This record gives sequence, structure tokens and C-alpha cells, in this order.
Amino acid sequence: MKQQFYLVLSAVIIACGYSLHVSAQQLKAENIDDVVKAMTLEEKCHMVLGRGMHFNDDAKFPGTAGSTFSVDRLGIPETYCADSQQGLRMNATRAWDHHDYYPTDFVASMTLASTWDREAAFKVGQGIGNEVREFGLDWILSPAMNLIRNPLCGRNHEYYSEDPYLSGTIGAGYVKGVQSEGTAACPKHFVANNQETNRNNNISQVSQRALREIYLKAFEIMVKESDPWTIMTSYNKLNGPYAVQNYELLTTIVRDEWGWKGMYVSDWNAGDDAVAAMLAGNDMLQPGQDKQYQAILEAAKSGKLPMEVLDANVKRILEYVVKTHNYQNLKIKKFKNENFCPAENLKAHAKVVREVGADGIVLLKNSGILPLESSKFKVQSSKISVALFGCTSYDWISGGSGFGGTSVGHYTVSLVEGMRSAGYEVYKPLIATYTQHLAAEEKRLFPDGRPPFSLMPPARADEKQFTADELNAAINGSDVAIISLGRKSGEAADRSESDFYLKEGEKQLIEAVSKAYHAKGKQVVVLLDICSPIDVASWQDQIDALVCTWQGGQESGFSVADVLSGRVNPSGKLPMTFQINYGDAYADRNFPANVDDKTLGAMFMWGYNKDKAPKERKPQANIDFTNYEEDIYVGYRYFDSFGKAVAYPFGFGLSYTTFGYENLSVTEVNGVYTIKVDVKNTGKKAGRNVVELFVAAPNSKKMNKPEKELRNYAKTKLLQPGQTETVTMIVKTEDLASFNEKASAWKTDAGSYDFLICSSVNDVEAKATAKVKAWTKKVNNVMKPNVKLNLLRR
Ligand code: BGC
Repeated sequence: MKQQFYLVLSAVIIACGYSLHVSAQQLKAENIDDVVKAMTLEEKCHMVLGRGMHFNDDAKFPGTAGSTFSVDRLGIPETYCADSQQGLRMNATRAWDHHDYYPTDFVASMTLASTWDREAAFKVGQGIGNEVREFGLDWILSPAMNLIRNPLCGRNHEYYSEDPYLSGTIGAGYVKGVQSEGTAACPKHFVANNQETNRNNNISQVSQRALREIYLKAFEIMVKESDPWTIMTSYNKLNGPYAVQNYELLTTIVRDEWGWKGMYVSDWNAGDDAVAAMLAGNDMLQPGQDKQYQAILEAAKSGKLPMEVLDANVKRILEYVVKTHNYQNLKIKKFKNENFCPAENLKAHAKVVREVGADGIVLLKNSGILPLESSKFKVQSSKISVALFGCTSYDWISGGSGFGGTSVGHYTVSLVEGMRSAGYEVYKPLIATYTQHLAAEEKRLFPDGRPPFSLMPPARADEKQFTADELNAAINGSDVAIISLGRKSGEAADRSESDFYLKEGEKQLIEAVSKAYHAKGKQVVVLLDICSPIDVASWQDQIDALVCTWQGGQESGFSVADVLSGRVNPSGKLPMTFQINYGDAYADRNFPANVDDKTLGAMFMWGYNKDKAPKERKPQANIDFTNYEEDIYVGYRYFDSFGKAVAYPFGFGLSYTTFGYENLSVTEVNGVYTIKVDVKNTGKKAGRNVVELFVAAPNSKKMNKPEKELRNYAKTKLLQPGQTETVTMIVKTEDLASFNEKASAWKTDAGSYDFLICSSVNDVEAKATAKVKAWTKKVNNVMKPNVKLNLLRR
């Protein structure tokens, strides 16, 4: 009897539990409001906080950045995010698991931007989005698309360009690619996070105009073209409050004016007031802290954080959740036990890396020695023999350091391998010499071994110098010398001014090799395997060809060899200016170029440690605040408008063929300008060409506007010698607007505008003029700097 009673009782309990479970709302795209209502306050407060970082081996995805809160009773699954820019960052091997999980190491952002090819950006985004899905995650924390304001910013390799249009359109291509795979993209770091030094507390002081025209513009173009599901807010403060706690920025501008409806996530541990972040519209704080939970809970209870605000934050998070792979899998009850990216996908992605890596290489100088073809050499054997000099030739850099860099890649195709596979003989004695030299340098620099993971780029080896006999032997054994110079940087630290210039040893090597090779009638090619511009002006006269390879990911040895051999005709163009000296750009005056106080190290990563700060410490320029006094005159907008010489201008890049431009026409219908131009391959080799459209506004000097600005671009298909392609580009009246602070409005002044087809900002190839009518659009008068800035004017 007793037994029966308990049996009945348990059946009732199970039935109740079951009916409670089924009667609770289960998350669906159509019932998000109901699910929010069904959540407890505690669940809501957890939902707006992330769950990271997953460093440990017992995590589902070891080595990833985080995940989101789950509520089983409401059918809200955990979703998973990972860094980032150059490929999916997670541990490729796991304890207690004999499989490996190597994702593809794609190309650095700067390489991608140098292609000036939206399609290439799409392909890279698609490859990354695909791997995120196949490996079982949902959300990739990229693209990073801060403007390149200064060549020394440590994260430049993760960013695209000094120009907002190029950054915005490449960013949009990448986002569309990621999201075409059903994976969430997360453009970051929003916004004006242009230095690493004290990035967690530095205040960027930027005029409303520069914000609108330059820093916000890149994101605005990307948001409107590609509608990212999420955006990451940045660490820095901006004109006062932290970006992550800035209502005017996050809600007034982006949601109200641009109409974006996605979910904001903070950068990891950004800001200092969780409630302020919620109020500003920043939906999720990662990786989530207990004290943030307590603060949000208390504020929600006291009414300081109105329930409708918290509900709106949660709702936007759930709107993201229902789109994710893990939610979709949950819904259709199709769980995967193992997550491996299929080998054929990885193979296809490797092909993308090789192609995009080659298309992003920029040929800066060429005496005619490139491509390295046998007709140019009195070849000593059946193969052209190349002597590879410089430590980087044997320690090839495929990407930057930090969370957005590489290091997850399975392999990097070395320069030696790339050159050999392209059919060249690599002069062997140098391989042996450099192997020994690099081993000795490794011991000198890391007597206790390298740290397993460091955000900081490792110390660089000194260059080996050669005796006259060694050089003579190399000259006799090779047809051409190739010297590689490398620079690596990353998150948490900016480069210093000295890193812009060559080290003494690098200079000596270039001089010695060039003199010796030239004396024997042989030539010297220099490869720049760099993360951001360096000085080239002071030494490039000594060499015969200069190739900026950037950092091209796992296949980079192949990509470089493809260009050197002529298998691929270079079509990359610089996405930023190469200045002659550090200090030439106006923005250089306000950048922490020489912060060498090593005690600031911790600040780079974790923010200024307030407890340890000396009580009397005064705010220091470029550490505690950075005044963007160059205003809108960033990059070429400065050099071009103020007539300053540069080493290589924005948009520059040579080819092995030549192009001609004919029949430029500009027609207008209802404020939409259609620009057409015939591009002809006038040389002897097949090649692709980037057509750059700059527009010059009337009276630009008087009106304090840049001399000309990039308003569109297009990349041709592969054109055979003699072949012509008609390229069509669109510009709208509103695209020509400048921001007028007094009126708080975008304004296009009426007048005659020059539409310029260029092969770099300094090389105008064709020009047409069109009348433009006045246009204006009022926007909110927000985001004023709270200090008086001494702004540069033309
Ligand atoms: C970086 C972000 C990154 C995040 C998560 C931060 O330190 O600034 O770019 O996505 O960490 O790893």
C-alpha cells in the first residue's frame, strides 16, 4: 500500500514537473517577448553577462573567448564565441582527446584591405564563418575595423585602412561572408580605439566632425551594407564616458539614426559601470563579473535600471540566440557529437588564403627584375638560384600577435618552401648559416625558453652580418638576392618610434648585400613582411625591387612566390600611406610613440590600476587622454591636402603590366551619379587592376575639406593584354557630404565636383566634372568633446 502511494506520488510529481516544463515558454523567433516575460529577474541579470573566458581544457571549446548564458527550462541554449580576425582562435589540441582541431590561418586584415576587393573580403569571411559553424561555435569576434590613424598602433595588422570608405566596404564584405554561413559577425572595436597604450582608460578626444566623417563612417558604411548581428564596443573612453557606457553613441547614433537593431557586446572587461552600460544600450558585458551581476540586480530592484531597459537588452540577446547554430541544432534536436571542419573545406580555404594572400601583396618598386623569369638571367643551372638573406626569410611571419593575431594555424608555408615549389633553387649555404644564427639568437633572447603564450610580440633576432668571402660565395651561387625584413606587433602594446626605422643591423645588411651584388651586376629584391608601415624612404635607393608582402597567413610562402615568379600579377594597392619619417603625419603629434616606461605594461592590457596609481599623478597626454587634433586630416587626407611628400601614397601599387583609362563618363539621375570608365590592359601580361574613384569638392581649401576623398573603387577581372573592361561605379549626392558641426547636419555643397579616376591618391589618370546640387540632413547634436581641441584646418 505504502509502496503504491509513493509510486502514485512520484508519477504526479513527474507529471507536474513535465507539465511545468512544457508549459514554460520555449524560445522561438516569434515569441521572444513572451520568453523575456517568463524569465526571472535573476535569469535576466545572468543573460546580460557573458560566460568567459574558456581557457581551460575542460571547457567545451578550450582556448576560446566566451559563451552566453543558457536557461534550459526556456529552451535558451548556450552559444559560443571565439576570436577572431585572421581565423578561429581556439586550442587546436585538447587534453583527453586525440583529435586535433586546426582551423585555417587566414590573411591579416591589412593584406585583405590591400586587395581592394570586396569579393575577397567576402570569401575570407565566408571561410571563417564556415569553420566557426563546422567546429560547433556560433559567433566570431571580428572584423576588427578601427581606422589606421597612426603607423605605430599595435593592432594595425587587424585593421584595414586609414580611409573609412575602404575600411567600411571591406568590413562589410567580410561580415556578409561570415553571416552567409549563419555565423554571427562582430565588428569591433566601436569606436575610436586607435591605440593600445592604456587602451582601457585612455580618453579619445575627437571633434564631432572627425567622429562622423572618419571614425564612425567606417562602421556606418559597414552597418548599412551588411547588417552585422552584433557589434563589440571598445575599451576606451570617448569624449568623456567609456564607449561601452555612452548612450549617445550606442543608442542615439547607431540605433536611432542608423536604424541598427543588433546586439552590442562589450570588449572583455571594458568599462567600469555595468548599470551605465545597460542604460546606454550595451546589451551584453563579457566575460561577465560577479560584481556586475550584483550591480545590475540591485539596480533593477531599486528601479535605477528600469525593467523595460533590461528587458530590451535581454530581448536583443535572444534575437541573436535564435539565429545561432547552437539554437538551430537544439530546435531540430540534431546534436553533433564531434565538431570537425571537413577536410575538403579546409583545403578550399587554404586555396582562398593563397589567392587572397597573393592579391594583397603590393609591389612598390621594380627595376624590371620582377617577375623572376629565366629570360632575365644568364642562368647558371636549369633553375634560377635565389639567395635569401635576413632572419625573416627563415622565420616567416604569417600574422600578428594577440587575440586577433594568428598562432592557431596548423602550419605556415615558409618562404623557402614557397620559392622551391615555384621552381627556384634556394642557395643552400645560407639556409645552414641562418639556421645556426637563429638558434643562437633564440638562446640569447630567451635563455629560459619562450613563454607559451604572450600578447606581446617576441623580441626580434639581430641580423647576421656577412664577411666579404661569404658574400662572394653567395653571389657566385645565386642569380639574385632577396632580403626579407619583418615586423610583428599585436594587442596590448603599440610599436615605438624606433620600430618604424630599420635597426642598425638591418641597414648594414641591406647596404652590404646591395653593394656586393651590384658590383657583380646582380640585383637585390627586398620583401617587407610587416604588420604596419615602416621607413623605406631612407634606404630603398640601394635596392632594385621592393615588395610589401604584408602577412598572408598559412599559405604566405606560396603567395609570395606566386607574385615573385609572375604566376600572379600583383594587383594590391596600399590601404594606407607610407610616410617618409615618423612625425610627418599630423596625427603623429598626438600618439604614444615613445612610451617606454615598462611599468605601464600592465596598463596596456588590463587598464590602469587605480589602486597603484600615485595619488598626485597628473593626466598625461596620449596616455590618459589623446587629442585628435589632426581632426579629419588622417592619412592621405593630411598629406594630400597639405602638399606633403610621402614615401608611397595611399592607393599605390605597381603591376607587371600597364593599364590605360578611356571614355570616362559621369551621368546623374535623381542625385545618383553613375561613373563609367574603360580600363585597358596596355601591357604584355595579364593582370587585374584597381580603379580608384576620388572626388574633389569645389573650394575645398576655403571650405576646410580634404583635397579629395575616396568615394568608390572597383577591381577588374583578369584582363589579358589588349583586353578592355568597362567599370561602373555609383556615388550618391549624400556620399559627398561633409559634417557641419554648427548645423549638426550632413551637407553637400552645391557646385562643380571633379570625379577623378586614380591609380593612387597622387596619380590622377582621368577626370570628369559634374554639377552637384545641395543636399542636407540634420542629425542629433551629440558626442561633443568635453575639452577645447586645437584642431588643424586647411
Ligand atoms: C580584445 C578583443 C577580443 C577580446 C576577447 C580583448 O582583449 O580587445 O578584440 O575580442 O579580448 O578575446
